[in-house]
Amino acid sequence: MKIVVAIGGSILIKDHDSSRFKEYSKLLKELAQEHEILVVVGGGKPAREYISVVRDLGAGEAQCDDIGIEVTRINAKLLLSALGDAAYQRVPHNFQEALEFASSGKIIVMGGTEPAHSTDAVSTILAEYVNADKLINLTSVDGMYTKDPNKHDDAELIHEITASDLLDFLNDKDMKAGTYEFFDTTAVQMIKRSKLDTVIANGFEPENLIKVINGENIGTKII
Ligand code: UTP
Repeated sequence: MKIVVAIGGSILIKDHDSSRFKEYSKLLKELAQEHEILVVVGGGKPAREYISVVRDLGAGEAQCDDIGIEVTRINAKLLLSALGDAAYQRVPHNFQEALEFASSGKIIVMGGTEPAHSTDAVSTILAEYVNADKLINLTSVDGMYTKDPNKHDDAELIHEITASDLLDFLNDKDMKAGTYEFFDTTAVQMIKRSKLDTVIANGFEPENLIKVINGENIGTKII
């Protein structure tokens, strides 16, 4: 299968150490024996910190996004270091480059592309570009809940949601640099228009990646 894996920056660089990079690189190398793997990594807390500094300096939103993009590319470079020879050792800056680099047959790792969306959207556009069989978004929660699970004990995980319902839910959320919500609306639009087979799952347990590929019923499937 051709699989696009989005890994939130908040997963990879949570504690500013190398452990998650190592865990993920091991898994991704194993998967790459059987599948074509393209990875998109997010910026996480460091991106938000840098964005907050540049915003204080008077930067506009697109400039703030640009700083966020740079941080995602640093995270991509860190994952490339962990993957070594199994990966193409350059970070694509756009989808055309991603396609070109993918012809090497190696794992591709990219971060952001242009302002006004998050790496969730990058992963969905990439999935369209390469005609992926599966898109797996590894984030810091188990999936989509009926309400905020941090605030409500009775919040329930939604196992399946249509892209249209997810769009309705996200439409009233914030769209500023560094604060794209749980899943950004551009991403959901892509999933809807291309009927991308998408699962959102908890990336703090890297094994979830394998579980999703094996068809286990975890996380939230967007239908
Ligand atoms: P992320 O995709 O990491 O956003 O990009 P996030 O919502 O903070 O997600 P986590 O925490 O990693 O899971 C960081 C910031 O970089 C800018 C946006 O401002 C985003 O909030 N960005 C990223 C872009 O403008 N364009 C891109 O293609 C990617």
